[in-house]
Amino acid sequence: MPTRLRLAMLAASLGLLFAAAPSTADTVPGTTAAAAIRYDYEQDIFHPVYARNGMVATEQALATQVGLDILRRGGNAVDAAVAVGFALAVVLPNAGNIGGGGFLMLHDARTGQDIALDFREMAPERAGRDMYLDAEGKVVEGRSLYTHLAVGVPGTVAGMEHALRRWGTMRLRDVIAPAIRLAEQGFTVSPTLAKVLEVEKDNLGKWPATRAIFFRGERPLKAGERLVQKDLAGSLRLIAVQGARAFYEGPIAEKIVAEMAAHGGLITAADLRGYRVAERQPVAGSYRGYRVVSMPPPSSGGTHIVQILNLLERYPLAQYGANSARSIHLMAEAMKLAYADRAEYLGDPDFVKVPVAGLTSRRYADSLAARIDPERVSPASAIKPGQPQPYESDQTTHYSIVDGKGNAVAVTYTLNLNFGSGIVARGTGILLNDQMDDFSAKPGVANAYGLIGGEANAIAPRKRPLSSMSPTLVLKEGKPWLVTGSPGGARIITTTLQTIVNAIDFGMNPAEAAATPRIHHQWLPDELRVEKGLSPDTLAILRQQGYKVSVKPTMGRTQTIQVREDGLYGYSDPRNPDGATAGF
Ligand code: DON
Repeated sequence: MPTRLRLAMLAASLGLLFAAAPSTADTVPGTTAAAAIRYDYEQDIFHPVYARNGMVATEQALATQVGLDILRRGGNAVDAAVAVGFALAVVLPNAGNIGGGGFLMLHDARTGQDIALDFREMAPERAGRDMYLDAEGKVVEGRSLYTHLAVGVPGTVAGMEHALRRWGTMRLRDVIAPAIRLAEQGFTVSPTLAKVLEVEKDNLGKWPATRAIFFRGERPLKAGERLVQKDLAGSLRLIAVQGARAFYEGPIAEKIVAEMAAHGGLITAADLRGYRVAERQPVAGSYRGYRVVSMPPPSSGGTHIVQILNLLERYPLAQYGANSARSIHLMAEAMKLAYADRAEYLGDPDFVKVPVAGLTSRRYADSLAARIDPERVSPASAIKPGQPQPYESDQTTHYSIVDGKGNAVAVTYTLNLNFGSGIVARGTGILLNDQMDDFSAKPGVANAYGLIGGEANAIAPRKRPLSSMSPTLVLKEGKPWLVTGSPGGARIITTTLQTIVNAIDFGMNPAEAAATPRIHHQWLPDELRVEKGLSPDTLAILRQQGYKVSVKPTMGRTQTIQVREDGLYGYSDPRNPDGATAGF
């Protein structure tokens, strides 16, 4: 038996295997990076977690533990995903949510099908295209982010219930139970969470109901203190007993509507009652023999990942090398072309015709490739004016789960910015999103991520704002091979893309794929954004080629699981010290 396999089996027999950075919150028994099995002992610098029967990768160790417990009890990946979704709403309050929305990608091993579940927020009935403009037609700063007008009709609870009913095996009340316990009994605030609370204290401190949860007196909670969320526990308990109806028609709905009515918000009882999830056909493409399946509109993610991969496939990236100036140049040029299309064509497919087939076709890639000069930078030549990206936070969250039956689930969901609007609907403990900012408030005016848009993403009643969230499955011979995704606003697409390219072209394991510095170009602003860690020589070549290179804060935080013949290999992005991957 090969040494690696023997090591793997030995480690598996020891029980829980955790890796990534050690949790600074409540520590999980058995947490030790040293327990991670080696993927390739001789070649690799970073090593993923190994397990055989099931694996969960999330941004918060307590939520990872919740998902793992469900798998151990015989639940499938969907049961675990729903449990994790509710748990993260408690232990990762800045991004996990029941007051927001998101997307779930599933590979259903029974049928062999891939399904995209859309539980993105919808604009309220009374929303209108000019709702964020003043009398002179100028965008009112902050209105689409920190007011009751910023809130879209939340989709998470409906999405979780739908997924469980369609593909799960357990009862809602059983998968919510751990979240209720965590809300009721509280958990220790980590330095990471304490820092976000400190950064966002002005936004959060404005609202008494929010203050009551996250503040102690005049200041936000600090690391080491306990966060107890009694009202949230109450809301979760209602959902456990009554199902999503409690949220959309019952006592929680009443409180959300009262909150809106008291502060000039738009969401009515009819809006909540009228919320619908959508099962959609994933966007699919092929890349060097693998099948890539990802989120279709109203996300732009899957479409542009496939579009960029179509462009990259014609270049021998493996030969050029990971993060060589040449590979970066080709990636950046392909990214620019894709983001230019994003601004023009992408929106909610229930409202606008999005040319997904065209954008992801090989023929289109051929025509775009002709516009890439392998040596020189093509200027973004401001067709529409770019805007700087004023916000840096990555406050969405992604998690990946694989069970022992061959099911794979990738979920990315969000409140949009940290803690969303910062508004808690009084009496519910539920933070409300500010997803309306993802609409184009005005053609050509950038949103919080510097992304511009036009007609296709204009605001309309019941429309879903365009997203970048990209939960993605890469399949090999029809079976999941890589399950991945990331937060990061506009950078989600390029982060997920690089995870795929790192795995396929450069043969990196999930830990190395995550640890490698990332780059990003979104056409406008015309800037090649990079993380620290690239060689100065490479940066010099890129600058010489004409790139405006900026080294900026980290981008994205992936949660990736790779399925190999000998088992599961996963890793939580080291950019977030609270994340954890665990398996059994
Ligand atoms: O749906 C989207 O694309 C955004 N609302 C995601 C926001 C996000 O990732 C926050 N982090 N930067």
